[in-house]
Amino acid sequence: MAEILALGLTHYPPLCLDDANMAGILGWTLDDPAIPAAAKDPANWPAAMRAEWGADRGATAAAAHRAALVSGFEQLRAALDAFAPDAVVIFGDDQYENFKEDVIPAFTVCAYGDLEVRPWAQVKDSGAIGGKPNVWREGPDFGFTLKGRPDIARQLATGMIEAGIDAAYAYQPLHHPGIAHAFLNAVLFLDYHRQGFPYPVICVPLNCYGRRVISTRGFLSRFDAPVDPDPPSPSPKRFMEMGAAAARALSASPWRIAMIASSSWSHAFLCDWTWRLRPDTDADRRLYDALSRSDFALWRATTLQQVETAGQHEVLNWFALMGAVEAIGAPLAWSRFVETHVFNSNKVFAQWEPA
Ligand SMILES: [Fe+2]
Repeated sequence: MAEILALGLTHYPPLCLDDANMAGILGWTLDDPAIPAAAKDPANWPAAMRAEWGADRGATAAAAHRAALVSGFEQLRAALDAFAPDAVVIFGDDQYENFKEDVIPAFTVCAYGDLEVRPWAQVKDSGAIGGKPNVWREGPDFGFTLKGRPDIARQLATGMIEAGIDAAYAYQPLHHPGIAHAFLNAVLFLDYHRQGFPYPVICVPLNCYGRRVISTRGFLSRFDAPVDPDPPSPSPKRFMEMGAAAARALSASPWRIAMIASSSWSHAFLCDWTWRLRPDTDADRRLYDALSRSDFALWRATTLQQVETAGQHEVLNWFALMGAVEAIGAPLAWSRFVETHVFNSNKVFAQWEPA
């Protein structure tokens, strides 16, 4: 009988790096001449941020941040193994990786077959790591076969379209030779201890970056860089409807499916009101409190403007998952909020009871 295990996690790229490099995004932002010196002066930062930054630009705090993230992944990997899914469906943002100027689809089901992925050879297509050594010390030849389930993916797309969500679908990658980092890092982190990842993966890239997907190539820009905003992403409410339709389609199937939202929460580099120096933790806490008490109405009432102001673009992946969880009536089993001020984004881990 069909059953869905919903999980939420982060694909935070700097977790791939050594501790000394984990706060590199903040380091880059501190070099931005368009940001006032007073905002960049640690003396003016919140005490918790100053403490994390410390005397070594966050290197010491990085060890604790890594430990919290790795333990979150251990918890979710155990849940995944206990559930033994037929496939893992991942909602993730594409940050100008597979989709570029020639097409930006809102929602896409990737019905790929088995795919050879070489994370470190392909990393230049995924940004954020910048040629630094990875924490596993794997070279460009390191790779593995990521299994696909195009049959399940086709049924997923069919069910979504029949439910009124006009999803795009694809049988092969477009611009990225492997899979975008939102998907790849979810797999690499769920397999942090390199025991292997036996589950077929169905990537479902969502247009979370909206106005910034082409204009800033879904990543960092200088504060005063001229930007020609793109059309917006779909609304948070629409992401929830899409997630609900996906969950219903899979609930009507014969398969056991793990459904994952892959993203950190508020991103410092997307949050202008903090001068892109730290994430909007209050906004994240509001959503997290609502998640903790299954308050789907608060999530549904959140506007795209609120999401963008808080730098929560990528949390749209979680709106999709929240729509799915609501549709199948799954109770929350476990969650954790990992707060940080210097490591670009707060991270959340969540696991719901299979339903
Ligand atoms: Fe991302």
